[in-house]
Amino acid sequence: VPERDGLLDLAELERIPGYPGKGVLLKKKVAVLECAQEIPCNPCEAACPRGAITVGTPITNLPAINADMCVGCGACIAKCPGLAIFVVDLTHPGYDYVTIPYEYLPLPDAGQEVGCLDRRGRQVSAGRVRQVLCHKGNDKTALLTVEVPKGLGMDVRNVRLPASVDVSAETGPAGASSCSSEGEEPVDVLVCRCEEVLRSGVVAAIREGAASLDAVKRRTRAGMGLCQGRNCSRIISRIIAEESGRPVSEVAPGSTRPPVRPVKLSALARRDDESEENPAEEPPSH
Ligand code: SF4
Ligand code: SF4
Ligand code: FES
Repeated sequence: VPERDGLLDLAELERIPGYPGKGVLLKKKVAVLECAQEIPCNPCEAACPRGAITVGTPITNLPAINADMCVGCGACIAKCPGLAIFVVDLTHPGYDYVTIPYEYLPLPDAGQEVGCLDRRGRQVSAGRVRQVLCHKGNDKTALLTVEVPKGLGMDVRNVRLPASVDVSAETGPAGASSCSSEGEEPVDVLVCRCEEVLRSGVVAAIREGAASLDAVKRRTRAGMGLCQGRNCSRIISRIIAEESGRPVSEVAPGSTRPPVRPVKLSALARRDDESEENPAEEPPSH
């Protein structure tokens, strides 16, 4: 699980079962499942026609990639509701290629130059769209294959249109500018996928006085969904911190109530049965 801010870095990515391994990445085009939260979700497992993805039981397992079975076809990318799957091809000498899910309009054209963004939304380079796939079976999620400078295939995870690239030789990727330029309103994004709450809704709640995760939750329902805030609470904390000018560490964590992860009713029922069979475990009568 991302330790500091809800965003995976490479070291964290290398520890999850969706990472195919550095040796594999250098040898073949392969899917990278950047899924690090134990949420009840598994459409990726059924999406792979080659059986290269396993979630198994319980459904909260992190998905694992079998790199030997993966052929980099990309059929799994658009099936992931968390937009957490990418196909990466680091095998070419001049460029790396990344296939990403893309849900914005307008779509770029093949051949168009775009700004390439890292996982934090920072622009790290210019790139060129090589392929735009709009498959009917993928609903409205397009697949963009983007050619990026050699060495950035494991960094670029989104693109920005139109290209507005400002990465000087002096600054390079580490000093790249932020996605939103000064004074520009950030593009609205979905913050809580379970309850479909947009960033603008969270910001509005904060500006109306919600200063904590629980207060934002009461006003917007963000954090009340199936994942119980596992996906969105850190993002919301960051937005509260940005809006209130406080460090994230000073934003009070939300209340958590048991069970802390989904539990089958049969498991609870079994505990009742066990108690009946074993009177020693019964609470003392008064
Ligand atoms: S890229 Fe294709 S083969 Fe690889 S895991 Fe996804 S669906 Fe399966
Ligand atoms: S979020 Fe995506 S990668 Fe993770 S389990 Fe769900 S479908 Fe699979
Ligand atoms: S994303 Fe699941 S509750 Fe917010």
